[in-house]
Amino acid sequence: MRTTRIIQIIIGIAGLGALLLGLLSWIAQMNVIGIHMLFGLAVALTLLVMSILALMTRGMRVWGIAGVVYALFVPIFGVTQFTLLIGDLHWLIRTAHMLVGIGAMALAGTMSARYAVLKQRRTSPVTEPQSVH
Ligand code: HEM
Repeated sequence: MRTTRIIQIIIGIAGLGALLLGLLSWIAQMNVIGIHMLFGLAVALTLLVMSILALMTRGMRVWGIAGVVYALFVPIFGVTQFTLLIGDLHWLIRTAHMLVGIGAMALAGTMSARYAVLKQRRTSPVTEPQSVH
């Protein structure tokens, strides 16, 4: 399906970009957080679009609700993490933020795959074998 293919491509590029830039900022202390946040926002918005599609699809509504909540949580956690657990334990927040980001990619990927299967089944239902008389 074209829509899910596009969603998977955007999530792949934006997610990989966000992850690499985040790691560059963390490990190499490079000043790339501005562009990292743009890539991260693209991940969250793509997850939101996928979740809205799921909300409109019978059999995927729970996934849709979970996706909308998750898509809102990603940027909120992203911009507030500076203020959380400051000190020696701040690496826990950084790791949690990274895992939440990777989780957003995984959730969007899983949802788009399920959505494609559901749509495929509905457009080409399995036909009963014809009996020979
Ligand atoms: C709108 C979404 C996002 C926002 C606003 C955001 C924001 C930020 C900010 C402000 C930092 C720097 C934190 C610090 O220096 O203490 C950061 C770091 C980082 N981000 Fe994101 N981020 C977002 C999405 C993502 C996604 C989707 C991923 C992974 C796929 C990710 C992975 C990372 C990593 C690995 C770091 C370095 C470790 C850290 O400092 O937490 N981020 N992000």
